[in-house]
Amino acid sequence: MMGVGSTDAAPAAASLRGMRVVVTGAGGQLGGFLVPALAAAGATPVGFGSRPGPGGAVPVDVTDEAAVLAAIAAARPDAVIHAAAYTDVDGCERDPARAEAVNGAGSAHVAAAAVATGAHLVAVGTDFVFPGDGGAPYAEDSPPAPLSAYGASKLSGERAVLAASPGFAVARTAWVWGGPGKHFPRTVVRTLRDRGEMEVVADETGCPTHAGDLADALVALLAVRAGGIVHLTNAGRATRFALARAVAVAAGLDPASVRSTTTEAFLARYPLPARRPADSTLANTRAAGLGIRPRPWDEAVSAHVPALAAELGLAASPR
Ligand SMILES: NC(=O)c1ccc[n+]([C@@H]2O[C@H](COP(=O)([O-])OP(=O)(O)OC[C@H]3O[C@@H](n4cnc5c(N)ncnc54)[C@H](OP(=O)(O)O)[C@@H]3O)[C@@H](O)[C@H]2O)c1
Repeated sequence: MMGVGSTDAAPAAASLRGMRVVVTGAGGQLGGFLVPALAAAGATPVGFGSRPGPGGAVPVDVTDEAAVLAAIAAARPDAVIHAAAYTDVDGCERDPARAEAVNGAGSAHVAAAAVATGAHLVAVGTDFVFPGDGGAPYAEDSPPAPLSAYGASKLSGERAVLAASPGFAVARTAWVWGGPGKHFPRTVVRTLRDRGEMEVVADETGCPTHAGDLADALVALLAVRAGGIVHLTNAGRATRFALARAVAVAAGLDPASVRSTTTEAFLARYPLPARRPADSTLANTRAAGLGIRPRPWDEAVSAHVPALAAELGLAASPR
């Protein structure tokens, strides 16, 4: 079930009352939580999708500068949360021009339209702007150096947003999961259900983040209207292997059925074009200073995976 997550964000509800907020990528994983979270906080969300979608999202291709300006002007928003992106990391590597058009230029178009209409902007960024080769946990001002076309295009987008107005915000997040679409915990539960075991890399580390918790944190960030880069993830860090084992436990499955492997061994069998950071852990330093403290990642797993397991036909009693 969709719903808001758990973030220490109580002041948000009052302060968004009466605001009109455009959400790009409203039909995506995060957008599916963001639209109801904004409504719960008293705002009027206006969803933009890449095509007409459920809930009557306004179709707007962010690569079309004139269409973005016209749609945002027509929506008369007080703020925009820009969650649309070309998020297929390997697809971006195969087609870097499209990655740049959607994630770089598309973000510049949204930022220019927000400036033109006097709206505040919060754009969603990624941990993949960092190389992950030793500098983690990364602070907001750590130097980015993306390994992939996806990371490079998202960095280009965040730079365009901050160049358009220093008052705009870039909320970098990581390892987002939740809702009805494809995500890593869903893959884990489905694979264990169908095959009884799986191998997961134990040398890739990051900050698993539930999309509902992220939506709540973005609402809280919008309420305080902070500008600049803000890291926003569930608290703590995990390897993919540790995350998969926690998912297995919460699904009522045997965690020992998840075995560890290395990225090198995994890629030898399943080659992928894009390189991923080995450790892209983000430090949520600015968010904590703003009073925004999403719960630990494993609490989000315990809260949401039983329903995911039930949806996939498994008994939802955690071990
Ligand atoms: N998922 C993660 O692990 C993760 C991690 C770090 C940061 N992020 C960032 O978080 C944000 C939300 O990601 P998500 O997980 O919700 O991704 P998602 O499920 O792929 O949603 C992205 C949305 O953007 C839309 N979109 C793609 N190209 C578009 C275009 N040219 N014009 C308009 N809309 C377009 C997609 O619509 P269609 O599906 O119709 O194309 C989709 O609804 C993104 O900025 C992403 O970079 C995600």
